[in-house]
Amino acid sequence: AAVEKGPYRHFMQKEIFEQPTVVAQTLSSYIRPLEQTVALPQMDFDLDGIDRITIVACGTSFYAGMVAKYWFETFARVPVDIDVASEFRYRDPVLQPGGLALFISQSGETADTLAALRHCKAQGQTIAVVVNVPTSSMAREADLLLPTHAGPEIGVASTKAFTCQLAVLAALAAHLALRKGKLSAAEEREIVRHLIEAPAALNAALAHDEEIAAMAHLVAPARDVLYLGRGPDYPLALEGALKLKEISYIHAEGYASGEMKHGPIALIDEAVPVIVLAPSGPLFEKTVSNMQEVMARGGKIVLISDAEGLAEAGEGSMATIEMPRVHPLIAPLVYAVPVQLLAYHVAVAKGTDVDQPRNLAKSVTVE
Ligand code: G6P
Repeated sequence: AAVEKGPYRHFMQKEIFEQPTVVAQTLSSYIRPLEQTVALPQMDFDLDGIDRITIVACGTSFYAGMVAKYWFETFARVPVDIDVASEFRYRDPVLQPGGLALFISQSGETADTLAALRHCKAQGQTIAVVVNVPTSSMAREADLLLPTHAGPEIGVASTKAFTCQLAVLAALAAHLALRKGKLSAAEEREIVRHLIEAPAALNAALAHDEEIAAMAHLVAPARDVLYLGRGPDYPLALEGALKLKEISYIHAEGYASGEMKHGPIALIDEAVPVIVLAPSGPLFEKTVSNMQEVMARGGKIVLISDAEGLAEAGEGSMATIEMPRVHPLIAPLVYAVPVQLLAYHVAVAKGTDVDQPRNLAKSVTVE
């Protein structure tokens, strides 16, 4: 059956709003809520023996991989190498025996990612894939298939596939950590509890839709927009910038907050909105001090944080968006929502073709 937009104006908008449901659906295949344990599909290889992970993907899926790198390294203490697929193959990567090559793709057909998968397979790596289309080429060629259950994604700019990828990757990281003896059963239960809270937190984030729509006029006239984040929220800054440029055609850059002083700070003036992603947590103070460097140069801040963070650092911002207070593990899923909504509403304000942006394709099957 054809996928319908229902009450929504665009598929992208519909897909943004589906996230609480599809993330819950995806998680239900990877956790046992009653036992509070993670549950991964049967594997016919020894996961305990994995001592290195290579992540390869493109576009938004690549940013999900960047978040996962933090998780694999923090929880499982397994070193992770990550690259965009088009670079990976041609740099002659060193692939040691015992490595897991992990490919992330909504379509499962992106030509560069598929070619990288085949390259890794030929080099004897164990192949795991996180894909949304279970009948895709990548799904068929994997040793370990980890499906996302986002349902068909029609909007060219990926939204719900991304948060579902993050849900699967968090469960995989927890599972690997357990197998590696780096996580106690109590810590596993805690992680599962946080993951279970994700759909409600996504709903709470979506409740700010109208407010974000109302602030779109602050960003729509800009020629350049900067997104800043740290740690696992740095890839979210990259994703925010990607979403905005894809559908609103505004030049946007995502930067690691601490790296801003090495270049992009030269761009700051009143005409460049700076979107700061700063959930409360261990990295908050550092991000805020980077934000203050922007403010001191007349930069206009949109601060996305929780109530506590906004109370502490919201003053002087051009606008603020309040997220629910969540554990740092699920912050990347939750903070995806405001950056998606902001890009969406800015594009609507500019009158662009949201679901079919110029020059872009949903699935890129040429290298
Ligand atoms: C295209 C799409 C993006 C997507 C990327 C990777 O560029 O427009 O939204 O993130 O391909 O696609 P994949 O299907 O491999 O996740």
